Formats: sequence, C-alpha cells, structure tokens
Amino acid sequence: MGSCVFPVFIGLILLQIHKISECHKIEVTPDSGTIIEFSKKAGHGLDCSVCKEEGPSETCNSSLKLTEAQPTNVTFNCSQPGDVFNVAIKQEIDCSTTDCSIIAVHPDSTRFLEFTRTFNWHLKVQSGKMFQLDFPSPGMRQIKPSESCPDKHTYIITTYQRVGLTNIGSFCRNGTISRIQVLYKGRVTLEVPKGTDLNPSDIKVSMGPAATGVVEMDVKLPRGAFSVDFFTPDYLTGYYDEQKMKWNFAVKPMHNFTVRFQHYIPPECQKKTVMCDYALGDKTSFTVAPTETQPANKQGDFSLTLTNCDTKKVANVSGLSLNFNVEVFRSGTPYLCTVDLRNEEGLSLQIENKNRESYCEMSLNSVMQEKIVVPAGTKADLSFFDCPVQDLQLTATKVIDCPSVSARDATGPSLTIPTLDLNLPVPLHQFTWLLRLRDQSTVDLMPPKGSSLHQSVPDKQCNERVSLLISETEGSSIGQFCSAAEGTIQKIQIKGNVSITVTPNNIKDLSQEKGPFLNFGISPEITENVIYTVSPLISGPMYLATPNWPDGMNPSSSASWIITIPQEYKAELLFSNVSKPKCDSGHTEVSIGPLDSQGQTQSWREDQSFTGPVVQQQSFYLNMSNCEPKSDRFAVLSKISLQKEIKKFLSIILAIVGALLLLVIIAVIVVCVIRKRKNKPNNNRSSIFMPRGKPVLPGNASFPKTRADNESHVYASIDDPTMYGHLVDKNQPAEVDSGAWSNGHQVDAYCPFQGPMDSVPAATDSSAEYSLDRREGDAFQPFLNPPNTFNLPKPRSPLILQGSLGFEDRRMMDNALNTFKSVGDINPIRLSADESKLQPQMDSDLDSYPEPEYEESV
Ligand SMILES: *[C@@H]1O[C@H](CO)[C@@H](O)[C@H](O)[C@H]1NC(C)=O
Ligand SMILES: *[C@@H]1O[C@H](CO)[C@@H](O)[C@H](O)[C@H]1NC(C)=O
Ligand SMILES: *[C@@H]1O[C@H](CO)[C@@H](O)[C@H](O)[C@H]1NC(C)=O
Ligand SMILES: *[C@@H]1O[C@H](CO)[C@@H](O)[C@H](O)[C@H]1NC(C)=O
Ligand SMILES: *[C@@H]1O[C@H](CO)[C@@H](O)[C@H](O)[C@H]1NC(C)=O
Ligand SMILES: *[C@@H]1O[C@H](CO)[C@@H](O)[C@H](O)[C@H]1NC(C)=O
Ligand SMILES: *[C@@H]1O[C@H](CO)[C@@H](O)[C@H](O)[C@H]1NC(C)=O
Ligand SMILES: *[C@@H]1O[C@H](CO)[C@@H](O)[C@H](O)[C@H]1NC(C)=O
Ligand SMILES: *[C@@H]1O[C@H](CO)[C@@H](O)[C@H](O)[C@H]1NC(C)=O
Repeated sequence: MGSCVFPVFIGLILLQIHKISECHKIEVTPDSGTIIEFSKKAGHGLDCSVCKEEGPSETCNSSLKLTEAQPTNVTFNCSQPGDVFNVAIKQEIDCSTTDCSIIAVHPDSTRFLEFTRTFNWHLKVQSGKMFQLDFPSPGMRQIKPSESCPDKHTYIITTYQRVGLTNIGSFCRNGTISRIQVLYKGRVTLEVPKGTDLNPSDIKVSMGPAATGVVEMDVKLPRGAFSVDFFTPDYLTGYYDEQKMKWNFAVKPMHNFTVRFQHYIPPECQKKTVMCDYALGDKTSFTVAPTETQPANKQGDFSLTLTNCDTKKVANVSGLSLNFNVEVFRSGTPYLCTVDLRNEEGLSLQIENKNRESYCEMSLNSVMQEKIVVPAGTKADLSFFDCPVQDLQLTATKVIDCPSVSARDATGPSLTIPTLDLNLPVPLHQFTWLLRLRDQSTVDLMPPKGSSLHQSVPDKQCNERVSLLISETEGSSIGQFCSAAEGTIQKIQIKGNVSITVTPNNIKDLSQEKGPFLNFGISPEITENVIYTVSPLISGPMYLATPNWPDGMNPSSSASWIITIPQEYKAELLFSNVSKPKCDSGHTEVSIGPLDSQGQTQSWREDQSFTGPVVQQQSFYLNMSNCEPKSDRFAVLSKISLQKEIKKFLSIILAIVGALLLLVIIAVIVVCVIRKRKNKPNNNRSSIFMPRGKPVLPGNASFPKTRADNESHVYASIDDPTMYGHLVDKNQPAEVDSGAWSNGHQVDAYCPFQGPMDSVPAATDSSAEYSLDRREGDAFQPFLNPPNTFNLPKPRSPLILQGSLGFEDRRMMDNALNTFKSVGDINPIRLSADESKLQPQMDSDLDSYPEPEYEESV
C-alpha cells in the first residue's frame, strides 16, 4: 500500500436552487468520475418530471443521469421534488489496474439536503484479492438487514458474485468492527434520508490480501461487559455459495468471551457440511458443528471461520443464515478485604488505580469508586475487581495533633509507619504525617539517633532507601531530605503546621520500612519560617538550598541556617546558584554573621551582586529573607566547604619568642639560684624541675615539626622498664630511640618523667629536643644559643610556666599557641587535668629519687 491518501469527494457539486413558481431549478456540476442520477421513488406516479436544460430546449423524463463534469440546469415541475425523486451519487474506485493506494472516502455533506441521498462507491480489485475497508474508531456495528441505523446513516456492503449480488450486511457507525474485507468486487452504499444532515465516517479503501473467503471482519471487543451480534451474508434470504466467512475478535485481557448461535438456519447441503473452526490465540484451534455448543468462558483473542456447504439455490431450498452473538465479561472474581482504622488515631488511607487502561473496579462499602478513601477512625469493606496490584497505589496519611508548646512534654512520638493490617497485597507507596499545631509555635524536626539529615540537591542527591519531603502549612515544599550517616542537618525548625511525606527511593514497599524516620518536638514560635541547624562535613562540601528550591521561596518568608564550624576549621561559603526577583515591596536580604555577634556582619540585597566566597572562621548564621516579588523568584543554593585553618606564622613566632623570653628569664633566675647553692644537696632545686616536669613545655612545641613527626615515637619508643632501667643504671645501653634516653645522661634521672609516663604522652619529643642531654657541661647554654631557639629545654621549665601554658592553650584556640597544642599535643591540657593526681605522685618520686644525677648535670 502506498502512503499517500487521495480524498475522494462525492457530490462536490455547485448547486443553486431557484424556486420558479411551482418549479425547482438546480444547477448541478458533477465531480469528475462521479455520476449523479435522479430517479423516481418506487410507487410514485408521473405527476412530476425532472428536466435537463439543453440550450433553449429541455428534455424531461422520470429520471436523469448526469455524467459530464460541467454545469447543468436541472428543473422539476413540482414544488417538492424530494418527495418524488431520490438522488444517487456514484463513484467508481478501480484498484484492479492502477496501483491503488489508500483512498479516503468522504461524501460532501451539504448538497441535496431535500432529497434522499444514496452514495455508492463501486469498488473493484484484482480478481483473487479482497478489497479492504478500514473504519476509523469507533468502528462499525452490524444490524439486521431489515433495520436502519439510529443516526439514519446506514451503510450497506454488497458484493458481486458469480451467483449474483450478495448482501454482506448493513452497518451503523459507532461499533466494534474496525475492518471489513470483501471478495474482489463490490459496493459500499450509504443511504441518508432527506432532511438529514450528512455526517459521514471516513472510510479508507485499499486493496486487501488474497481472498480467504467471501468476507472477513476484524472486531475489537471493548472492555467491560459487552455483547454484540453478527449476521451471515444474505441473512434470512440465505447464503448458498460454498464459501468461507471469517471473524477475528480481539478480546481485552482479564476478559472471558462466550459465543452463542442465536438464530441458525442450516443450508441444505448437497455435499459436505457447515463447519465452525475456532482458533484461540496462536495455538489452540478446534472445530464444532453449528448445532453444537460454541465456546464459552474462554480468554484471549479468537477467530471463527464459518464454512458453508455446497447448496443448490432453488426457491424452496434454504441457504445458510446465522445470527450469532459474542459476549465479553470480566474474567476475575472480586478480591474482598476489610480495613479497620478505628485503632490508629488520625490514620486515613487512599487507594488509587494508576492505570487508566485497566479494568479495575474498586468499591468502598459496595459503592464503586474511582479512588478509595478510607477516612480516619472508620472501618470499611473494600472490593477490588480485576485490579492488578502493580496498578494500585496505596498512600496513607496520619494526622498528629501536636502537644501544646506549654505542655510539660512538648515532644511528640518519633515518626514511624504503623503496621497496616490490610490483608491487601498492595505495596505502600507513600506515607504522610501532618503535624498540626494547637498554637503559634514551631515544629522541631530532628533526625533519629545516630544519623543526621541530608538535603537532596542535584549535586548531592539522596540515594538512601527512602526520601522525606518536608512541606510547610500550605503545602509549599521546603525540600527533599533523607536520613543519612553522612548528613549535615541536625535540626530543622519550621513555623506552623508541617507535613512530612516519605516515599521509597529504591525500594517498592514502604510498609517494610519501620523507621523511625524523624523525631519531632514543639518549641516556641520563631521569627524565621525555617531555621536549619547544620554542621558541615569535613569530608566534603555541603549545600544549603532555600525552601522550595529550585523554585522560589514564598513571598516575605525567611530562612536561617545556623552553621557550626569545628575548631581549627574555617568555612568557605559560596553562592553557587542564585536567582533574584524583582521586588514589588521590600527587599530580599542575605546576611551572614558570626554566632557570637561580635564579628562583622555582611549582607546583600537583590539589587546588589552577591560577592565571591565568604570565609567564616567560626560558627555563623546565614539568613535569607524574600521580598514581595513582582516577577521572578528568590532561590539560592549555597555551598559550604570546610578547610583546615592555616597557621598564622607571624603570630606563632611572636608567641614563641615571647614564651622563649619568659623561659630565658626564668632560666636565668634558676641559674642564679642554683649557682648560689651549688655543691649543697638541695631538694629545693629539684623541685623546680619536678613539676609535671613533662617535656611538654613550650619549648617542646617546637614549631617546625609536624604533628606526625612528634607523635610518631611517643608511645612506641618508651616503655617503663627501659626507662627505669636507665634511671637505675645509667651504664646500661638504652633501647629507646630517643636520643635523650639513649644517652643515659643525668637528665634521665629527672623524676618528672616517671609519674606521668603512662597517662600522658610525655615523651612526645624527638631527640633534637633533648639537646639538653648533650649539653652535659652546661645545661643552660641552649637558652642563649640561637640555633636552639625552638628546641626549648623543657625539663628545666618551671611548673608555673607549664600550668599557664595549659590555660593559654584554651584561650587561644585559633591563635598561634595552637601550635603547642598540635605539636606538644594534648599534654598541657591533660596535665592540668591530671594535676591533682599527678602532684602527689611526683612528690613521692621526688622523695624517692635523690638528685645526684641532677647535681651532676648542673
Ligand atoms: C410535469 O411534466 C410531466 C411531463 O413533462 C407531466 O406529465 C406532469 O403532469 C407534470 N407535473 C406537474 C405537477 O406539472
Ligand atoms: C425516459 O427514460 C426512460 C428510461 O428511464 C427511457 O427509456 C426513455 O427513452 C426516456 N425518454 C426520453 C424522451 O428521453
Ligand atoms: C442555468 O440557468 C441560469 C438562469 O436561470 C443561467 O444563468 C445559467 O447560465 C444556466 N446554466 C446553464 C449551464 O445553462
Ligand atoms: C456509541 O455507542 C455507545 C453504546 O453502544 C453509546 O454509549 C455512545 O454514546 C455512542 N457514541 C456515539 C458517538 O454515538
Ligand atoms: C421443492 O418444490 C418442488 C416443487 O415446487 C418439489 O418438487 C420439491 O420436492 C421441493 N423440494 C423440497 C426440498 O421441498
Ligand atoms: C473466565 O475464564 C477462566 C478460564 O477460562 C475461568 O477460570 C474463570 O472462572 C472465568 N471467569 C468467570 C467470571 O467465569
Ligand atoms: C494548623 O492546622 C490546624 C488544623 O488544620 C489549623 O487549625 C491551624 O490554624 C493550623 N496552624 C497554622 C499555624 O497554620
Ligand atoms: C541553577 O539551578 C537551576 C535549577 O536546578 C538549574 O536549572 C540551573 O542550570 C542552575 N544554574 C547553574 C548556573 O548551575
Ligand atoms: C539570623 O537568624 C537567626 C536565627 O533565626 C537570628 O537569631 C538572628 O537574629 C538573625 N540575624 C539577622 C541579622 O537577621
């Protein structure tokens, strides 16, 4: 078949009606290839004639045939020729010689309204083939030949056979027959009574396949209960030819069909018998006699081929006549269940059929519904008829009336999905909690213990099992979240009623997810609409999206983020995607400031350009408020990355120099004191060094060293026996890699090292720091020796200094003295914490060990 479509209009005729006294005059111009014929209706006398004007003369007769495609004046000598004459409009479509593409047949609708019109399309294809008629949806419906169609548009299909004319059948529009194929040569007739507007179907004509019988029909049976009748050719007058006729039925899934032969007149066969061959699907086929029971309660597409026998066409010999009926109906039985929500406060259920094509019928308490809603606190009987589970969507909503903020316990239960005892094999597709507030207060949403929330943004989407859509009072979304191990949001506070909808991400049935999904509490009203409490991850950037992102924030609404920055880190905030509105009234504002409200605050309006990265050294807030926009929207996506604070060398050096100076002064004093009392065994002296005499002193925090260097040997290298061994016997070779110990010098004898050894990583220092050991002669040289500036001889540092160092450390977290913390590590802090414990121990150490070694060293 070609693809082009030739519309063929029949009766596109220029027509003028002049009413001259009792006469009608019509100017008619037939289309090319079209014949127009006026003929008297049967039973009318000769009291009216149709005349054709030929120049000055006219010829009148009881009929008139116009074949030329030229204007012709036609007159009638009666006032209402439509009562006497019919008009037949004929067209021939010959597919036997030409390459016959699909032809759309469409009669013109306006002409000859006062006549009964008969349109005839004469169709012819190559012999041995069938001509094919395709009917647009809805298709055709067969009626008894004696009937006429309700819309007065009756189509009659006739075929010219060897034995003469055979009436295939009469058809009306709006039916189930989508295609009729007829043997070789025939005619389609459309009859429209006078006064009826023509409202024709487009019929497509084409050359069909090789002949299989006299007629073949394709029928598409509709869904639901339906019954349709078919009639054999020449119904009631009898069909005599030994031919086949075939019907192909398309049956919708979930339907059974039953065939009944309602009226059967058997032909008188000379040879053979009439047979009904059924084919079910592709595989099953069987043959039954017309008098036997026809298939019933079967499923699937099927075809019926009726083969007539050889019959002699004689007046008193009957031919074949069959009227059969095909009925379709649902195959399934309803699934019944009961839902009892009386024990689940505030819980309601909705069940929806998502497949419009399905034959699913749902009823609630025996009333058929498009969508089932079981209200909270009720019990309902549900029935499902032919409802494939995968087409159904079950959603549940639980309304929680929150405790008042003034209530003693303003914490709600955690949000978990209750067990839905439904007996219903429908997966739970969505669960919504509506948190309703009694008063002007705030809902605090917290992730369940051990997790935090993560907001799904295009750059970092939720890929957990479920997603939580959090929305404000009027259903405007705040965002899509999930509960994740690597989340950043610790709390979301929302002013007003809140809805939380959990939907599955990569699972099918939510009812298996028991949660808890969130915890919630009620707190007093906040000024912002939403406040997030977030802790950015060290491991990667986090994104902050304004509520409803990427759509705009609600007009005149505000959001705030309280961002906690861990110590030793700074945050870099970048507005990575900003959409600014034109404001009708007010301004949008974005402001950033440190939480302790001492630092500098920065802010921008929509008419200013948002600057590049903003660096915050401490925990800060980010507030955004929208104006009343005239156009466009306010939506901001910000990105926060944490970076380890880079030390400020200058301040560190200054601090170290300061500490050194202090040490030098102290050392000088000590030296003076020692020199004064030299040669006298002196407990006092030792006391100077005893203090938590850790090598943890400022000097210990030798700046250039990295933490790794310092920590590396601490515990590994020192073990008590070794140390004690040293202390007892200085000649024993040291097994410790620290130069200080291996040298076994007097320094080793310092008591202070013993006490805290276990609890404090005292030996944090590498050999370099113990340069003191090498300076046997004069312990205090290093202080004056510039190269040793950073290698402070801690053992000699007095107690006071250490204590103060511990405190300083805390005050100067962000400052240069961090260095001490990182290099000397926790020592100063631990020392002070352990002070009380260590003190006595050291004292005893002091007592037990006399100071000869020390004496030597000095
Ligand atoms: C119309 O003309 C025919 C013959 O031409 C005549 O027999 C007939 O009576 C006429 N009818 C009327 C109504 O004049
Ligand atoms: C009138 O029509 C009939 C057939 O309808 C025909 O036999 C007859 O010759 C026609 N008469 C005239 C005068 O044309
Ligand atoms: C038909 O008649 C009208 C006048 O009644 C005339 O103008 C017209 O030319 C005629 N048409 C033909 C084809 O004779
Ligand atoms: C077609 O027929 C069905 C019943 O068979 C009827 O409900 C429907 O209205 C009809 N449609 C038209 C366009 O006539
Ligand atoms: C048919 O009618 C003829 C006479 O009209 C008669 O001879 C013949 O038997 C009849 N056949 C049958 C089958 O009735
Ligand atoms: C439809 O047919 C199937 C088998 O063909 C049968 O099991 C089922 O009961 C039938 N349904 C009805 C409603 O009869
Ligand atoms: C929350 O919902 C309840 C019930 O629908 C309503 O009465 C109340 O006004 C709402 N509160 C707010 C702040 O919208
Ligand atoms: C900003 O976000 C919107 C919404 O997701 C997106 O369409 C747009 O491409 C983004 N623009 C940039 C510059 O990333
Ligand atoms: C920013 O938001 C926080 C939290 O709501 C609020 O405490 C603070 O006052 C706001 N700051 C500004 C400048 O609006």
